[in-house]
Amino acid sequence: MFNSDHQWNVRIEMQARPISFRTERYEVRTLRAEDASERYLSWYLDPKVMHPQNAPTARLTMDELRAHIAGFDRQKSHLLGIFDPAKKLHVGCYILNIQPQHRIARIHIMIGDEAYRNRGVATETTTGLIDHLFASRGIEKVVVQVLTSNIGFNRVMEKIGMRVEGHLKGEVIASGGSGRLDQVLYGILKKEWPALAEGTRR
Ligand SMILES: CC(C)(COP(=O)(O)OP(=O)(O)OC[C@H]1O[C@@H](n2cnc3c(N)ncnc32)[C@H](O)[C@@H]1OP(=O)(O)O)[C@@H](O)C(=O)NCCC(=O)NCCS
Repeated sequence: MFNSDHQWNVRIEMQARPISFRTERYEVRTLRAEDASERYLSWYLDPKVMHPQNAPTARLTMDELRAHIAGFDRQKSHLLGIFDPAKKLHVGCYILNIQPQHRIARIHIMIGDEAYRNRGVATETTTGLIDHLFASRGIEKVVVQVLTSNIGFNRVMEKIGMRVEGHLKGEVIASGGSGRLDQVLYGILKKEWPALAEGTRR
């Protein structure tokens, strides 16, 4: 059978496995049902969080948020929380999508708490996440797609040394329904990462 998981009859065995690692200032780990909170719900209502991701604001219920958290299989899809352990605060999230047959991980991020934006959280934790994926999860390439208009995350990509692999014209339909939006495609291979990380980490 030909599908994305069994391409060319290569069978990939994967076990559901939570993710957890620390960076200098933050903890990143798989979210659990008990992490659902009013604080987390409020991020979906904030246009400054949702629009740069090309997503509409949304009023979710606590049960819908718990169902969202439960919807990630922890094999090919992961929902991770970014926590400030010093203040015991959940400040943002990553979504990871894994293509196991190609050992590729695609990363999405949101820093939900405004007080934590432009303080280096994405730079530090995305570096830590890529370190973790290459060192401990068998990933050989990381890719990220960012709206061309998203100055902050394009800057993060540049700071950590991700390579621009393409400019994708009209790649996505604008969530507001007004036309199509451009994205930048970034990528990095495992064999390129240590040298880059040495030279670019802050
Ligand atoms: C984009 C986002 C992930 C960045 O996270 P962050 O933790 O604030 O990023 P950092 O602080 O590590 O780095 C941001 C950089 O962008 C720069 N930046 C942000 N907005 C900027 C602007 N309007 N003009 C110029 N530079 C800007 C910051 O100055 C910083 O660069 P510097 O360290 O050289 O000063 C975060 O703001 C966010 O989650 N936004 C909403 C959701 C989103 O856009 N997700 C990404 C979807 S692909």
